[in-house]
Amino acid sequence: MFTIHPDKSLPQGATAAVEASSRLHSLPPLSVYVHVPWCVRKCPYCDFNSHALRGELPERQYLDALRSDIEQSLPLIWGRRVTTVFIGGGTPSLLSAAAVDEMLAMLRSYLTVLPDAEITLEANPGTAEAGRFADYARSGVNRISLGIQSFDDRALQALGRIHDARQARAAVDMAQQAVQRVNLDLMYALPGQTLDGCAADLRQAMAYGTSHLSLYHLTMEPNTVFAKYPPVVPDDDTSAAMQELIAQHTAEGGWERYEVSAYARPGQRCLHNMNYWEFGDYLGVGPGAHGKLSFHDRILRQAKARNPQSWMERASRMDGSHIAEQREVQAQELGFEFMLNALRLKAGVPAALFTERTGLSILALAPALERATARGLVVADPSRLQATELGWRFLNDLLAEFLE
Ligand SMILES: C[S@@+](CC[C@H](N)C(=O)[O-])C[C@H]1O[C@@H](n2cnc3c(N)ncnc32)[C@H](O)[C@@H]1O
Ligand code: SF4
Repeated sequence: MFTIHPDKSLPQGATAAVEASSRLHSLPPLSVYVHVPWCVRKCPYCDFNSHALRGELPERQYLDALRSDIEQSLPLIWGRRVTTVFIGGGTPSLLSAAAVDEMLAMLRSYLTVLPDAEITLEANPGTAEAGRFADYARSGVNRISLGIQSFDDRALQALGRIHDARQARAAVDMAQQAVQRVNLDLMYALPGQTLDGCAADLRQAMAYGTSHLSLYHLTMEPNTVFAKYPPVVPDDDTSAAMQELIAQHTAEGGWERYEVSAYARPGQRCLHNMNYWEFGDYLGVGPGAHGKLSFHDRILRQAKARNPQSWMERASRMDGSHIAEQREVQAQELGFEFMLNALRLKAGVPAALFTERTGLSILALAPALERATARGLVVADPSRLQATELGWRFLNDLLAEFLE
């Protein structure tokens, strides 16, 4: 069984047997990720760059810093069109409607955001208001992702959430009234959760007819309250049974499991995340935001200063000091990085995408692919890079082949 955290960063030192340096003939689609780092309270299981808000939300200072961050990013993306925007957190739904409006106007004035771009905003049911959701939609948000986690009051309490089941249900209604495309984030294998409890959560989530579900196995992340004081969670057999149940019920309900944790109604995949998994480009703005940007002769990774206050101060200085890390991805790392993303997709990707995105010959993957094929972990089709059922189940094992 495998579980992969939704936002796992890449291990250092990943290598593949490659010598050549990369050269791209065309640049991939470009997405923009905007990080909003504040939450009402820090959840005990969460290792995202999110911080309990003390006092007023510094909206003005945040938006000014965001403008500076975007302005300083422009030389890296001149002339490129933006296909998706994701406003994530933290809790972006803490922002006023006016702030989201200003943020989107800002993005449109500096960048060529396509008229039909997918624009997602992450919201917490504990901060949901119908009027504000409708205003977000008027400003251009066309997809809302709700951090439901569970519809069970006891589970929500054990997770330290600020919302209860009633608020979760109300938030789904509000989101569905505001936009056509709604994602529900749920977690399973929760403290005290039974198989029946998991089934009940899933039934409720599927009953709303939203366009998308993200179903995550709760993981214990280092440096969280749960890591220090682990709650009693279902044993491995029970959580495996939960995974089976989820696979079966979602398939019966007409949901396509297109990625490890992502389930979509037909035609309703998350385009922003698809771009990550297809090794597209993304500009990350806001504290701790990561970016991956391609040029004809190199691929850059960037990370912004994590601490919200220091990111705001540094970005406003306009001297690049808000960039905590910027480095060129080495050719030897590209094989693993590409596969880490692509193999999360159930259908994998066309083999030709490897060269298109990395500039390297597919031969760079050949030794690892041969080993993985011999172990029955990848599909023996030279035109695709795709895990078999077995490979998908033991994805970490499969990925390890590309590290050598
Ligand atoms: C970045 S969070 C943002 C959502 C929003 N702040 C909220 O929690 O309502 C995205 C999702 O990641 C999932 N997540 C966060 N920590 C997790 C963990 N330790 N294990 C599994 N899933 C986790 C949750 O389902 C969460 O909704
Ligand atoms: S609300 Fe979301 S981002 Fe904030 S602490 Fe909880 S899980 Fe993390």
